[in-house]
Amino acid sequence: MSTLETRGLTRRFGGLVAVNNVSFSLDRGEILGVIGPNGSGKTTFINLVSGVYLPSSGSIMFKGRDITSDAPHLRARAGIARTFQLIHPLQSLTVRENVMLGFLFSRGMRLRQARVEADTICGSLGLERLDRGVAEITMLETKKMEIARALANNPEILFLDEVMAGLNVDETREMVGLVQSVSRRHNIGVGVVEHVMSVIRDLTHRVIVLENGEIIAAGPYEEVSRNPRVIAAYLGGAA
Ligand SMILES: Nc1ncnc2c1ncn2[C@@H]1O[C@H](COP(=O)(O)OP(=O)(O)OP(=O)(O)O)[C@@H](O)[C@H]1O
Ligand SMILES: [Mg+2]
Repeated sequence: MSTLETRGLTRRFGGLVAVNNVSFSLDRGEILGVIGPNGSGKTTFINLVSGVYLPSSGSIMFKGRDITSDAPHLRARAGIARTFQLIHPLQSLTVRENVMLGFLFSRGMRLRQARVEADTICGSLGLERLDRGVAEITMLETKKMEIARALANNPEILFLDEVMAGLNVDETREMVGLVQSVSRRHNIGVGVVEHVMSVIRDLTHRVIVLENGEIIAAGPYEEVSRNPRVIAAYLGGAA
């Protein structure tokens, strides 16, 4: 059994089926791309796995245990982390304090230890000068801070929701390398939601493609990128 598995995961919002019968698996150390046009259900899928929403039907297994109805903080504690498409750091705190919050709340650490851990994890991501306010840092640094916050949880599975958005070409390249090294170093299974196809090509071992909440293709990037149904879904989304 894989580290994380969903079976027939479905979520309705009124008449809309945002996620439709999605069965997937993700193992530690693996990098999976989750792609699809706007509104295809990518963020909702992450919200279901992380517990923001409960599914209308279907199940979620994590390390052999059924976590379908567990509260978000229990899933986080068990080892599922995520970043948010719309980030919301606490503006009145410094970078270090934002990362420390992860250690204080999810791991129950004391202040001094949380500070040491925050400095270590930020250092490993190349994030320096941690006493700056979050309003003073660049977009790339903000993204690194979000990843540091997620890693504070010591996750086995990490979902990144459009973590490359707003980065230039060089920053994107750096972030791709960073995600690869984080996955390898901590043996984390990473689910990458991303619109930039070169990132998906360079970063992922395999990909699932969503359209209207359903998986329409799955496999290595080179294969799904040639799939006529996938091409049509993207062209349809752009029209
Ligand atoms: N809380 C909600 N209430 C009602 N509808 C929702 C809710 N959350 C998402 N939806 C709808 O579900 C569908 C899937 O949305 P979702 O945000 O998961 O798409 P996405 O693939 O992440 O899109 P994007 O690429 O634009 O981020 C959309 O039609 C969206 O409007
Ligand atoms: Mg989204």
